[in-house]
Amino acid sequence: MWRTVRLSAQITMSSIRNFSALVQNKALINGSWVDSSTCATFDVKNPASGEVITSVPDMTVEDAQKAIKAAKDAFESKEWRSLTGKDRSNLLKKWHKLIEQHTEEIAEIMTAESGKPIAESKGEIIYGNSFVEWFAEEARRIYGEVIPSAVNNREIIVMKQPIGVAALITPWNFPLAMVTRKAASALAAGCTVVVKPSEDTPLTALAVAKLAEDAGIPKGVINVVTTAKAAPIGDLLCKSPDVRGISFTGSTEVGKLLFRNSADGIKRVGLELGGNAPFIVFDSANIEKAIDGAMASKFRNCGQTCVSANRFFVQEGVYDKFVSQLKQRVESLKIGNGKSCDVQIGPLINEMQFNKVSGFVEDARSKNANIVTGGKGLSSLGSLFYAPTIVTDVPPTAKIYTEEVFGPVASIIKFKDEAEAVQKANDTRRGLAGYFYSENLQQVFRVAKRLEVGMVGVNEGIISAAEAPFGGVKESGVGREGSHHGIDEYVDIKYICMGNLKYD
Ligand code: SIN
Repeated sequence: MWRTVRLSAQITMSSIRNFSALVQNKALINGSWVDSSTCATFDVKNPASGEVITSVPDMTVEDAQKAIKAAKDAFESKEWRSLTGKDRSNLLKKWHKLIEQHTEEIAEIMTAESGKPIAESKGEIIYGNSFVEWFAEEARRIYGEVIPSAVNNREIIVMKQPIGVAALITPWNFPLAMVTRKAASALAAGCTVVVKPSEDTPLTALAVAKLAEDAGIPKGVINVVTTAKAAPIGDLLCKSPDVRGISFTGSTEVGKLLFRNSADGIKRVGLELGGNAPFIVFDSANIEKAIDGAMASKFRNCGQTCVSANRFFVQEGVYDKFVSQLKQRVESLKIGNGKSCDVQIGPLINEMQFNKVSGFVEDARSKNANIVTGGKGLSSLGSLFYAPTIVTDVPPTAKIYTEEVFGPVASIIKFKDEAEAVQKANDTRRGLAGYFYSENLQQVFRVAKRLEVGMVGVNEGIISAAEAPFGGVKESGVGREGSHHGIDEYVDIKYICMGNLKYD
């Protein structure tokens, strides 16, 4: 049964006051809300204040094995297998409705555990829930084919069937949307799932799992394993013969490890990994639009987004104007605890991330880059706040140029012509998203085709949508999420040859 939160002595008064009944501090296995078999727990902290919100079970490999078994049994059970696409669609629609009805409470939980400004949390819930709605619709459209045979008395029939148990390993930066983008497509296809949310943000995942249960999704179909031991549990999920697919959103380094670990079992692997997105502003751009796009792309979620602009390439004719307008906008951002409605920039998620971002800026400074604004921690707000920063004269050897920053730091590089911009934009092993601003139609098509990325924003800084295929090329990942392609990650194609048919 669902249990309301067991308020531990660690929870402070301010967090209790705001807490909703959706806060769960148990993991979900086979329809039961359970502790770790060792009774161990780990704390979930508010990155804005450092307060402990609550603690959740620190599940073991053996616990995760139970979750896999529950998902396997549920996959094979009549309650799930016998459902039609329409039945699954109806369950997903109910789940969608419940998430919509609980937007305020989920947003509060999300802001508390991720530090995201409350307006962005609400935005993420609408965005994340659009995947549930989209895949509720797609559940009824998983079409097969009848292919004309070259042999007279044969029919070639192709059907799509669910792959089985899918393990979904989700990140802290979009604690709801990355769960729903994966889980809704897997469930629509007829799979069952084991979700391993990030240890930084397990509460949002548990809250949406509770709503899935309330929607009537049968026990064992969605299991949630909370753990601070990501490595051994990730290893199990990759190696267990009962898991047929792995879907991961997170760092390229971890993605490579999961890819390698899944090789022996020839698993279906979907990886949505880090980017190093170029954001090119040509002389032909509308600068006001480019500034709006730059602010949205770079500073959404404090820059902790895999499709965030990472390197700004600005053509020499508009360079000075772009830098001065961007500086003005960046310096007007309201920074603080995300629970205040007017806050636009919250804290970084944890100390490791804070050290990475500040280390990257110090590295650029030591290589003679120019810090136009920011470039420091804001300790008066809390230990994880970092000032929105603009860096110019960035040398190609600087870490903020070669690696994904994942923080509120805009690096700006001047270029002369289109060929130079495209060459520099593509000069990375990553290829998730790329953006450019140009009002020249010929240039728009030329550059859109030449950028080595999975997604291109032309005169647009926010491109994510349930209807569109999300994913990267090169070392940014394999597979696509969202859109009608999202279902393909969770189905096998089966060819049935009907022979010796008598038609006359
Ligand atoms: C991510 O940063 O992992 C996802 C961003 C998005 O869906 O827009």
